[in-house]
Amino acid sequence: MFWVATFYLGLVSSGALALQIRLPPEINLPNPEEVPGLFQGDIILDGVDPYNAIGNLKRRWPSTNIPISIHSYFDKYDKAVFHESMREIEDQTRVDNEDCIKFVNWTTEKAYIYITTGYGCQSQVGFTGKAQPLTLGALCRFKGTVIHEMLHSLGFFHEQNRPDRDDYIKIINENIKKGHERNFMKLFPPDINTQGLPYDYNSLTHYGPTTFSVDHIKPTIIPLKEGVTIGQRQGMSQLDIVQLQRLYKCKERKLIKPQTPGMVTPNCTFDSDLCGWTLIDILPPLKNNTWTRWSGETVNYHSGPVTDHTFNTFEGFYIYVNAFKNYNSVAKIQSPEIAPGDYCLSFWYHMHGRDMGSLFVNLVKNGMAWKLRGLKGDQGNKWKQMKVFVQAPNGGKIEFEGIAGNMYRSDTAVDDVLLTPGSC
Ligand SMILES: *[C@@H]1O[C@H](CO)[C@@H](O)[C@H](O)[C@H]1NC(C)=O
Ligand SMILES: *[C@@H]1O[C@H](CO)[C@@H](O)[C@H](O)[C@H]1NC(C)=O
Ligand SMILES: *[C@@H]1O[C@H](CO)[C@@H](O)[C@H](O)[C@H]1NC(C)=O
Ligand SMILES: [Zn+2]
Repeated sequence: MFWVATFYLGLVSSGALALQIRLPPEINLPNPEEVPGLFQGDIILDGVDPYNAIGNLKRRWPSTNIPISIHSYFDKYDKAVFHESMREIEDQTRVDNEDCIKFVNWTTEKAYIYITTGYGCQSQVGFTGKAQPLTLGALCRFKGTVIHEMLHSLGFFHEQNRPDRDDYIKIINENIKKGHERNFMKLFPPDINTQGLPYDYNSLTHYGPTTFSVDHIKPTIIPLKEGVTIGQRQGMSQLDIVQLQRLYKCKERKLIKPQTPGMVTPNCTFDSDLCGWTLIDILPPLKNNTWTRWSGETVNYHSGPVTDHTFNTFEGFYIYVNAFKNYNSVAKIQSPEIAPGDYCLSFWYHMHGRDMGSLFVNLVKNGMAWKLRGLKGDQGNKWKQMKVFVQAPNGGKIEFEGIAGNMYRSDTAVDDVLLTPGSC
């Protein structure tokens, strides 16, 4: 339930397009990180005191250029996932064009990570000073899982090992599979260093609610805070990124707080809710579609954003028009009523995909819509900002009208809408 399906598009010899779907493990399958006999499930001990990871700076890589080698066993799809994972760590830890973690191809360095196949997903914690395996079995070759294992290699334990974890989660010992109790051990400084950052349910290194459960259903971890999810394997959270930056003494990104839920305002980051923006039904003969609040990658491979704009992580939300099976459909969403006046409307959009449709910004008043701005076709694989001068002497509502293209690679996303009085 925390997994996203990844779709690979392969060209078959007939010239027809084949959709190769690599489905992630189902919830009733064993968690690939649950390798029997390993300390902390997916952590390999290497004869060194197990608690010597991020607390001990000897276990930090001496350089932020991490040499890595990928076994020739893996096919091009697996390799693409590994390269994407490394690129994501590089991109998310870079601030103001200053690189932090960089993966370099291993040449002759004595210490390096080698990605290899085997049973389950496994890694050592931190720098070992020699060639160290990062094992990615068949069920582990998804970006979030790969990055999770890379975080171990870079020096991180699991989030629920923190000394303060009992203030945030409850461990249900009787539901833990026999022999795996030590995976839920608390670690204390100097063995572990939380870098002065708060407990993070969203961490990519947090176990899920049923990890190492006797029957994969009974919970082993219950969050003490309501409404949070644990065990996501999509990507690094904001705090994962800052923790990595802090451990390696890189420039740190600024932490952003999610908006308070329940506010009614055209200014919306879509992180807590829709801020009172309303979805509009599309009537025939137009094909009906809708804007969806979403985080992480959209369901369509080669279209849509990977992270939101606000946080630049999976954990932040944006809204998007899902083009899958919705070719040439229309989706509309309207802001709460705005007071009469002149405004500068700023928002970020992501329109990437070979089949990209269009996005219109409208001002709606008394059932009439004025198109203020329109975009059509692929705008590149990134979030871009647009500013529109809105003159609304009688007030009205701002409307985003997304029209899907004629194939599925046309997800249109919007984030961080800001309406400021005055001109742009
Ligand atoms: C590392 O190797 C991969 C393939 O083996 C290649 O695509 C990539 O360009 C190399 N990177 C550098 C920095 O040489
Ligand atoms: C339009 O589609 C959305 C889902 O895409 C659905 O929730 C909504 O009920 C539909 N509305 C109409 C009028 O068909
Ligand atoms: C939206 O936010 C901007 C900047 O914080 C503020 O100036 C503006 O008044 C807000 N607009 C509304 C309608 O609340
Ligand atoms: Zn792990």
